[in-house]
Amino acid sequence: MIKVYAAAQQSALDRAVEALELLESKNGLGNDFLGWLDLPEQTPESIISECEQVAENWKKKGVRVVVVIGIGGSYLGAKCAIEALSHSFSADVEPQKCRVVFAGYNLSQEYHSELLDFIADKSVACVVISKSGTTTEPAVAFRIIKEHIENRYGKEEAAQRIVAVTDSSRGALKTLSDGEGYKTFVIPDNVGGRFSVLTPVGLLPILLAGFDIRKMLKGAADMARVSAERSYENPAVLYAAARNELYEQGKKIEILVNYAPKLQYVGEWWKQLYGESEGKDGKGIFPASVNFTTDLHSMGQYIQDGERILFETVLSVANASRELKINNDSSDLDGLNFLAGTDMEHCNKMAELGTRIAHIDGGVPNLRIEIDRIDEYNLGELFFFFEKACGVSAYMLGVNPFDQPGVEAYKKNMFALLDKPGYEEESKKIRELL
Ligand code: PA5
Repeated sequence: MIKVYAAAQQSALDRAVEALELLESKNGLGNDFLGWLDLPEQTPESIISECEQVAENWKKKGVRVVVVIGIGGSYLGAKCAIEALSHSFSADVEPQKCRVVFAGYNLSQEYHSELLDFIADKSVACVVISKSGTTTEPAVAFRIIKEHIENRYGKEEAAQRIVAVTDSSRGALKTLSDGEGYKTFVIPDNVGGRFSVLTPVGLLPILLAGFDIRKMLKGAADMARVSAERSYENPAVLYAAARNELYEQGKKIEILVNYAPKLQYVGEWWKQLYGESEGKDGKGIFPASVNFTTDLHSMGQYIQDGERILFETVLSVANASRELKINNDSSDLDGLNFLAGTDMEHCNKMAELGTRIAHIDGGVPNLRIEIDRIDEYNLGELFFFFEKACGVSAYMLGVNPFDQPGVEAYKKNMFALLDKPGYEEESKKIRELL
């Protein structure tokens, strides 16, 4: 089970428990978006079997690459889990595995052209994910990938190679899927994008990449029970209390730190979850992330010595999945023989400890979240833990964690600049500014 090492005053802990009670009572802000609380325990077996069925069908067809299209909460959870669970060199070391690649999370012409190069000679299928069904980035990417698949396989076969994950009844993607006869999975109305990793939004791509989503749901279900307890030992309560207390003391930036490249996207997923949930009404901790020890040779300088507005949350992994000893070298020209017989992970752990001590000395408070190992069960726990703590933390801050009004501003300007019908007034106004 996840362990949180953090200190918080009694008053912050009391406020966190109150916020937890508000969340669990479903009477707080945005309470029509609390479906994620019940997902781990209430995801029906039928959804898992349907995901397995898609994987089985595509395996029979010999599909080698699945293009998963989505942005924000519609891609980051799956990307994070797949990066964390995959062999770092999977493409070469496990060539037999079906590759899951992502699209529609940017508008880069190079990226999508190169993706077309990559899939040109491979058997391909696509999962398009958009709750609203109207988000520009995935919609543009889907148009391109759909055309590619239809040109290669014909419309009928394309319909067998495209699956949509979207709203139950509204949105352009739902209408399109019904018209084209795509298999669809539903994102429940009461689950927002960044809380949707344990719906088919995350589960389907993670399963298609070859991982055990039952174990992931089990980890999440165990955390759902623990994190529902009105207790100061509840890890979500402790984390939310500690980070809010630091925020009130002027620590406006939280850096999530990992010591394993596989966990880089945990940072990306976490930033979206906390940034989009808390950054509003002129409030909110700014979530940042670094990858150590890599970034100790870049951002490490600022963290140690720059503005004292930071605190760190270290995501620590108790047990490595592999062993790698550093051996004796007869010449010892690098002077490293003092490490002979030591496991490389021991050096990593000492770097972690040494850095924490240095940063605390330098005025950067440290929280630590420890997971047992990197696997499906522990990631399920971690996903649910961060979601729960996010809800508690946002309620402590007094904001609605489940809306994102600020995301609309760029869209309005982009549509105006692209002359989208209906945006004539905005187009005129924005052109006057240029
Ligand atoms: O968390 C959120 O709600 C957002 O990040 C969305 O997931 C993102 O904007 C994508 O939206 P949609 O799934 O409607 O395309």
